[in-house]
Amino acid sequence: MWHEVAKLHDIAAGGMKYVRAEDREICLCEYAGDIYAVSRRCGHQNAPLDQGSLEGWILTCPLHDGQFDIRSGKNLSWPLDHDMGDEAAIPEPVRRYFKLEKRLQWKTRVHDLHTYPARVTDGAVEVDI
Ligand code: FES
Repeated sequence: MWHEVAKLHDIAAGGMKYVRAEDREICLCEYAGDIYAVSRRCGHQNAPLDQGSLEGWILTCPLHDGQFDIRSGKNLSWPLDHDMGDEAAIPEPVRRYFKLEKRLQWKTRVHDLHTYPARVTDGAVEVDI
């Protein structure tokens, strides 16, 4: 079922917009004149992807820099680890936290994003849920 979720002029060229339809959180992405709709929550640890960055068709998560293809929802890269090396300026509790996080990251899967069909009708962006 198609739902109007935004006006086309609300989405900047190369930009993103968070919208809701029914109970879904959706990130609308503009790329090369087309609108793509993907789930707003990152397939790693649920960060809001509309707060990340979009370069062409590559959406980068704001939390750990995992990357996704907005055309297919496919995960393109794993999150960055937080290897801070031997930098002395990092307090020991923070260093321990990053060590634990790094260990757990290896056991965490990154899921592809759900994609939704999107279209523009008379200046309105519609998403099929
Ligand atoms: Fe998105 Fe970790 S929450 S890469």
